[in-house]
Amino acid sequence: MAIHCSRTCLQYLIHLAHDNVDFRLPEIRALLSLRGKPIDTGENFKEKSPFWRLNGLSEEDVNSIMARTVCAKSAFELWGHGRTHSELRTSLLKYPTENMSPFLQKDSTYKINVYTFNKTLEFEDRIKKIDAMEYLSFEGRVNLRNPKHIFCLLEDYGTDPNDIPDEPLYIYFGRWIADGQRELIRSHSVKNRHFIGNTSMDAGLSFIMANHARVKAYDLVYDPFVGTGSLLVACSHFGAYVCGTDIDYNTIHGIGKASRKNQKWRGPDENIRANLRQYGSEKLYVDVLVSDASKPIWRDGVLFDAIITDPPYGIRESTRRTGSQKDSYVFLLNSHVPVSMAYHLSDIFTDLLNFSAHHLVIGGRLVYWLPIYRPE
Ligand SMILES: C[S@@+](CC[C@H](N)C(=O)[O-])C[C@H]1O[C@@H](n2cnc3c(N)ncnc32)[C@H](O)[C@@H]1O
Repeated sequence: MAIHCSRTCLQYLIHLAHDNVDFRLPEIRALLSLRGKPIDTGENFKEKSPFWRLNGLSEEDVNSIMARTVCAKSAFELWGHGRTHSELRTSLLKYPTENMSPFLQKDSTYKINVYTFNKTLEFEDRIKKIDAMEYLSFEGRVNLRNPKHIFCLLEDYGTDPNDIPDEPLYIYFGRWIADGQRELIRSHSVKNRHFIGNTSMDAGLSFIMANHARVKAYDLVYDPFVGTGSLLVACSHFGAYVCGTDIDYNTIHGIGKASRKNQKWRGPDENIRANLRQYGSEKLYVDVLVSDASKPIWRDGVLFDAIITDPPYGIRESTRRTGSQKDSYVFLLNSHVPVSMAYHLSDIFTDLLNFSAHHLVIGGRLVYWLPIYRPE
């Protein structure tokens, strides 16, 4: 008796970008958990590989990942795989015909792409590889410009650019489902951002943080070290209402010296609100306030769905907090003027965790940067 695999027990292949490697698994895991799904990578999973096989998902689950991820490039319904082309062929020929046939029919159009990781192939070699796939019964017409279905042969030549094997170490073939949101890295680049500062967070990393924090539409998200609001920009892209605080009056009010070359002072509308307006999410701007994160201003019972932040930590930005004459060695004539004093790393960290413990909804996430010294 033939064993039929329903479309829910299909295996999917995710092709990941080879940057921010340590952040990829938490991103995909967080996005799946938004749908209440665990990540099942099966045995022999290699986290550093650019190709992951995922089990136990539906095409809708995969589409939901791809609608948000900036770590993954594309997703495929995996039809076959193997260490050699012969193993791939055996695997493909075993794949249930009823799963393939809807995409191979006469009245449809298709194209086959070849993607190689860690090796560049000549055009002729690509064509040869495509021709060699003839054993699959493609009945439709080839249409390179606007095909109804796209298939992809993906070859993995390992991760060592100094030791590229002649033959791929592993090969996959599948039906393309969707691309990820890598385009956001370009479209939201801080290079073209209206209001930036010296420590504006990179667009790709901001989106990764928003994904790790599982930020979703109608959430209320808070950044206690908001700076120029890069993290708010990413969170509002996913539909969250956003607010923040910063100790720096000039940053919050968008005044003072500009961070751009060839520009001395900030323009009249260089502020966080204008950044959200630039990307069409101004309606999700709640507000930003001047405030010292070491002295919380929020009433008990105020709850955020996520807290997402890039504290100063003294690496790219000096760490200061407000104090009074009592706890400072600095003497001022006018006691109303707040005294600036060192804000130590351990205090920033403790304050952030304590604050989050009190002001996050149950299950809400705090996502923040913590500098580490890798050799240790
Ligand atoms: C690394 S920057 C954040 C950059 C921000 N993510 C962006 O994209 O522009 C850290 C921010 O923390 C602010 N800051 C420093 N000490 C603070 C404190 N005690 N309370 C609140 N903000 C503080 C700085 O003014 C700076 O804007």
